[in-house]
Amino acid sequence: MTTPLRIGLAGLGTVGGGVGKQLEAEGARLAAISGREIVVSAICARDRSKDRGFDVSGATWFDDPVDMAKNADIDVFVELIGGSDGSAKSAVEAALSSGKHVVTANKALVAHHGAALAALAEKGGAALNYEAAVAGGIPIIKAMREGLLANQISQVSGILNGTCNYILTEMEETGADFGDVLADAQKLGYAEADPSFDVGGTDAAHKLAILASLAFGTAVDFSSVYVEGIEAVTAADIKFAAEFGYRIKLLGTAVQNAQGAIEQRVHPALVAHSAPLASVSGVTNAVSVDGGYVGTVVLTGPGAGEGPTASAVVADIVDIARGIAFPPFILPQSELQPAETLEMGDYSGAYYLRLEAADRAGSMAEVTKALAEADVSIERIVQRPDQGQDGEWLPVVLITHETREATMQRALALLSEHADVVSTPVVIRIQGS
Ligand SMILES: NC(=O)c1ccc[n+]([C@@H]2O[C@H](COP(=O)([O-])OP(=O)(O)OC[C@H]3O[C@@H](n4cnc5c(N)ncnc54)[C@H](OP(=O)(O)O)[C@@H]3O)[C@@H](O)[C@H]2O)c1
Repeated sequence: MTTPLRIGLAGLGTVGGGVGKQLEAEGARLAAISGREIVVSAICARDRSKDRGFDVSGATWFDDPVDMAKNADIDVFVELIGGSDGSAKSAVEAALSSGKHVVTANKALVAHHGAALAALAEKGGAALNYEAAVAGGIPIIKAMREGLLANQISQVSGILNGTCNYILTEMEETGADFGDVLADAQKLGYAEADPSFDVGGTDAAHKLAILASLAFGTAVDFSSVYVEGIEAVTAADIKFAAEFGYRIKLLGTAVQNAQGAIEQRVHPALVAHSAPLASVSGVTNAVSVDGGYVGTVVLTGPGAGEGPTASAVVADIVDIARGIAFPPFILPQSELQPAETLEMGDYSGAYYLRLEAADRAGSMAEVTKALAEADVSIERIVQRPDQGQDGEWLPVVLITHETREATMQRALALLSEHADVVSTPVVIRIQGS
């Protein structure tokens, strides 16, 4: 066997601790696979006194991840601290600049700085592996970087945030509203004390920006992702959607049109019950990739948690131990194109629309007339007098034919001012119809 691969593990929390435990438990097998031993030779966290669940006695302690990243006695810098900037970024830059391989689970870092970090990696002849950054335990990066390479990808779409999927699943199953389910999710540890990154869609957007780059050969462009979270989804919308044959999911979708422009969007979407993504429930993640030859491939699995996420990090480390290296975003940096963005106003699709129409004769006709005048054509419409407030308003729910986003937004503005509409209407896009 050749010399051991020396790992510097920065961050010893949920994922970092898991990596330490898996390398310890699977050491002999991984050494046989890799043809060399993998040793954790340096560690770094904030609190030196914490038990990390694996033997750290042989590892050199560092207080500062940047010092560890520069240290000549490590071959691979494993960044499991988190955050798009600060220590994580400085340390990864330091490691790559000194020609060390980097493995990270940090989607925020890769989404914001992926292109610059990949350029540094390329310059130093180092690997930048980030399998765990997208959909945790699902090997979607490997699938796109290796197994699906023959295919031109036209669309990648997925359930990329387990917290949101858990909340939406619970709302559907219990009929409870968003706030109550979120509070329960926080008690159960499925949602952070500050859930805004998850429920607001930013976490899914980080992952989508990375997937879009891999799918379309473009530089990661997080700033072009349209982002809407699930905070405004109500139990009533989930119920009405079910009546029409749909579930509501937070989807991240990236599509390239025939002219090469790319649409990247994260928002709640109605998904037909028969679609594969509709049946993905709870904290589970799923990614669906449409390739020219392979058709549609859907990968489903755990998107977070110690075991799954650490296992993806370990696989990235084993690749380095085996001498397997790929450009971080498939193509050499010089070949990555700047992404031409399709503005959200140019998006086109069917919409779910729920509004509260004044409870008086003729109001429904007025609403449909206003929609027709706004150029929105209705495919299905129902009113539910039993679910409104007698004498005041009744819910009207409709599905539109394919409509441009800009047209829909104009229609919404008109409806919001309309004398027969008593509150701001709710609009949710329908995926894949
Ligand atoms: N948790 C998941 O399921 C999951 C899934 C996919 C991706 N990720 C990503 O994995 C990364 C790590 O997440 P995590 O859940 O493991 O976080 P975590 O449990 O909060 O652990 C963070 C670790 O970083 C250490 N740390 C924080 N600031 C530091 C600093 N300035 N210098 C040195 N060490 C520092 C902490 O030290 P102390 O322990 O001493 O406080 C802790 O060990 C993040 O990028 C996250 O987005 C996580």
